[in-house]
Amino acid sequence: MKALLILIVLMNLDKNKCFAFLSFSDQVLSITAKTQEQVELLKNVSTQYETVLWQPVSPEYIKEEEPVHLSPSAFAQSFASRFCFRVLLDNTNEMIELQTRNDSTDPRSSSSYYERYHSLEDIYYWINRTTQEHPEMVKVVLIGSSYEKRPLYALKISVGEKQDKKAIWIDCGIHAREWISPAFCMWFSLSYYNQNQDITHILNHMDVYVLPVMNPDGYKYTWTTNRMWRKNRSYSTDSSCVGVDLNRNFDANWCTEGASDKPCSEIYCGAFPESEPESEAVANFLRSHKDSVQLYLTIHSYSQMLLFPYSCTLDEAENHNELLVMAQEAAQKIRRYYRNTYKYGAGGKTIYLAPGGSDDWAYNLGIKYSFTFELQDRGRYGFLLPPSHISKACNEALIAVKTIALRVIEKT
Ligand code: ARG
Ligand code: ZN
Repeated sequence: MKALLILIVLMNLDKNKCFAFLSFSDQVLSITAKTQEQVELLKNVSTQYETVLWQPVSPEYIKEEEPVHLSPSAFAQSFASRFCFRVLLDNTNEMIELQTRNDSTDPRSSSSYYERYHSLEDIYYWINRTTQEHPEMVKVVLIGSSYEKRPLYALKISVGEKQDKKAIWIDCGIHAREWISPAFCMWFSLSYYNQNQDITHILNHMDVYVLPVMNPDGYKYTWTTNRMWRKNRSYSTDSSCVGVDLNRNFDANWCTEGASDKPCSEIYCGAFPESEPESEAVANFLRSHKDSVQLYLTIHSYSQMLLFPYSCTLDEAENHNELLVMAQEAAQKIRRYYRNTYKYGAGGKTIYLAPGGSDDWAYNLGIKYSFTFELQDRGRYGFLLPPSHISKACNEALIAVKTIALRVIEKT
């Protein structure tokens, strides 16, 4: 549906320029509430009018002076007339079409293969081929299956004969619409099995487990039905709303402030911790490998942040300063080599309380180096980061991973 919105924007008394606007449902707008009244209005609109919220993740986080990114999808004239806004994107339908087109034309061997987004089928195929082409280095590990019974395959990248190496775990695609995340896991794997000096050093000390798509049902759904889907695709018994936020489903202050017990919410925590097969599979794997896994990494987008525990409380982690120094060093490398800014800090204080996250859970399990990366961008394209940005987004994240991994090796 392409509802035409007629947005008549009134002049604001401060010098913000506001024009009369025509807005379509395939636009993404950035709106900043200036008063508490506007905050309430925005919250209402984003709950009532089938508005798609990009940022923040759920209406309860809307605050004064913090830009809200949304795609209005219904006639919401009365609300919009009270705001000044900026159009972020004008043609999301066209962008989505471009990003999903000929997903499997280039051969996997070409580097441009890694500079495009891939369908779930393509990623499964890629996993298969990668293990076949590098059998001495890359193995596939089936860690479980999704709600809709799709396999959850992780790659194990390992060199040399040594058996009891330490390990890094990295998962991507916990949130379905964050397409740069699975793209990063593929990019990362490529650079690991191709190796350069630093990577060889890392692999001499550590094995690497890579889960390219932790939420395959949701990812599939973003390709077929709704590009902006976030959660998994599980049905609940007492609601017609589908999906649990897998990053609220872990056992870390589960379902307290910052998560929701309402199945229709984007941050629905599920019926109980690890109620979802996807989070349970990752948790089981980490529980049974907790003596080897020293570094836990989980990749999201967007907003450019390097976060570490805790997100489920405002308390500081026991090795907060150590984590802070590592994140800072990684952010400095990104700035120096890629001229890009990443914020860093404990999740709860840097963004918001978000209990039930995989990073906090892994941390409490005993994996003392645990990070959530929020990749590019900061809202220009948001979840629709164009394929032409994949290489820079991935390379800068890669240098952050490398920096942190080298530090972990020194320490353990
Ligand atoms: N954007 C992520 C989310 O809302 C942030 C994750 C930070 N870590 C966490 N444990 N919540 O899920
Ligand atoms: Zn996310």
